[in-house]
Amino acid sequence: MPFTPDAELDLLFPSEQIPAFVRKQLPAELHIRPLASTDYRRGHLSVLSVLTVVTDPGEDAWRAQFEALRAAPRTYYGIVIVDKASDRIVAVGTVFIERKFLRGLGSVGHIEDIAVDKSQQGKKLGLRIIQALTGISENSGCYKTILNCSDSNIPFYEKCGFQKKENEMAKYA
Ligand code: ACO
Repeated sequence: MPFTPDAELDLLFPSEQIPAFVRKQLPAELHIRPLASTDYRRGHLSVLSVLTVVTDPGEDAWRAQFEALRAAPRTYYGIVIVDKASDRIVAVGTVFIERKFLRGLGSVGHIEDIAVDKSQQGKKLGLRIIQALTGISENSGCYKTILNCSDSNIPFYEKCGFQKKENEMAKYA
């Protein structure tokens, strides 16, 4: 599939919200942009499956989920890195902006679902995704950006400028 420029895509949020300094640091053969309504066809779920078990809901249900995210403006920022030669997604990540009553009606950015295709790991794409999401979070006025991760990923997030704080609790249904 030939590379599809942002102008021809139906995007989750405006491309300009991805910090320019991140864009500039990517190799020329890669492109970073917001998630697009047709990214089901560019391997979005297969990259996410690097992270955990992914059940394919089919394209229509995937698209309905995309529209549900977009219906909450200034809240969900899903981004992808695309290999221009194949127009396939090689890295993904999301930041969700939570609006609070605390801290003078402050906001917190929650980073979720970071994954880099196995063949592309170790090339700083994870770092670029985190820099882009943190930039979006801070430009949205968030006073902090947080995430949960396994012990084995702590060194990666430390390299991205994060520090360990408190604990995660979980209750599965
Ligand atoms: N342990 C130690 N250091 C690491 C690790 C690790 N597990 N992973 C990366 N690093 C280091 C790199 O060596 C590099 O260091 P350097 O600057 O000194 O060279 C730096 O962190 C940046 O690494 P990247 O090349 O950007 O890492 P990559 O592109 O491979 O992405 C990621 C890292 C996202 C963890 C990737 O390996 C991946 O997709 N893993 C499987 C899925 C996963 O675990 N995702 C994160 C879940 S947590 C969440 O989603 C909030």
